Amino acid sequence: MTAEPIPLVDLGLQHRQIADEIGPELEAVMAATAFVNGPPVAAFEQEFARFSGVDHCVGVANGTDAVELALRAVGVVPGDDVVVPANTFIATAEAVVRAGARPVLVDCDPVHQLIDVDAAVALAEQHRVRAVIAVDLFGQSAPLDDLAGALDGTGCVLVEDAAQSQGATHHGRGIGATAAVAATSFYPGKNLGAYGDAGAVVTNDGDVADRVRLLGDHGSRVRYVHEVVGVNSRLDTLQAVVLRAKLRRLAAWNDERRAAATHYHQALAGTTVALPTTAPGNEHVWHLFVVRVPDRDSVLDLLHAHGIGAGIHYPVPIHLQPAFAHLGHGPGDFPHVEAAAGEILSLPLFPGITADQQDRVVDGLLRAVSD
Ligand SMILES: Cc1ncc(COP(=O)(O)O)c(C=O)c1O
Repeated sequence: MTAEPIPLVDLGLQHRQIADEIGPELEAVMAATAFVNGPPVAAFEQEFARFSGVDHCVGVANGTDAVELALRAVGVVPGDDVVVPANTFIATAEAVVRAGARPVLVDCDPVHQLIDVDAAVALAEQHRVRAVIAVDLFGQSAPLDDLAGALDGTGCVLVEDAAQSQGATHHGRGIGATAAVAATSFYPGKNLGAYGDAGAVVTNDGDVADRVRLLGDHGSRVRYVHEVVGVNSRLDTLQAVVLRAKLRRLAAWNDERRAAATHYHQALAGTTVALPTTAPGNEHVWHLFVVRVPDRDSVLDLLHAHGIGAGIHYPVPIHLQPAFAHLGHGPGDFPHVEAAAGEILSLPLFPGITADQQDRVVDGLLRAVSD
């Protein structure tokens, strides 16, 4: 008998925990036909703001919109430049373009693969640079305090892409509490995942929250009065029901992720596999457990051949993507990002992963790296 495959993420485990609870609530939304802006949306916004330790949360349609609306809300306008790390999901850079601005890419630090603070701050001194997007990669915060301190008084705004870090803290502060604003994604596989696309913007700045809400609802506060040209980006009521149920379990699920990360650390210590580390001041929520191995592509093929659903986040950096060829970059421009892209490997990790599954991943990985 061949062993059951181990997925990168198993969302069925989460669904089975909340299914009974959300069933009647989803029925109630459908019966009331309150599909847009129904009561669960405001309730979720309040609960997620409280969970993150910030004053405001505005639900939007997805994480990419959240980044775009956050940028527009802090004053990014067409013609501005926005600093973005070259190692992020494409959406961060796409959102900059959709806000009418130009992404100015920077390298990452070689250890944690988080945005290079010195490179970002040096660029922030250029006059067209209006914002820096710090991406909380793999479940840990970017160096937000260092960036916020260095950008203070420059007129350049710090925006946090917290798509991968719901529940993470930086010196005890949650997402959106250090930067001017944070954008997050509730894409199904995220630590807090919806049943489809969803996202939110969180901030302590009431004016920024107000502007995100305005922009995300066709630029309108009063029906059929449109103050500015906005977009249609709202959190669906049905998604809010799912997110409320999952939010109640998120702290426990993040604990399970931490326990699983500890298990990998212990099982892989002293091997040739380079293990991820947590930057000072961070409480990690292990959205992804990203190791580094030489000859990564063959290792990945071997893992897949053994039914182990490892992945790569992300194989091609932004500056080498065809969509951003017009920025004029080439291989060699961001050496730390490029070195990481060739070696990184995300191991299966999700709330509910068993020690047995993890041990099979470790066995498969150690066999693959020694092949
Ligand atoms: C770092 C980062 N930024 C932005 C996004 C975009 O979120 P969404 O897929 O909800 O648009 C994602 C995830 O998909 C992400 O990982």
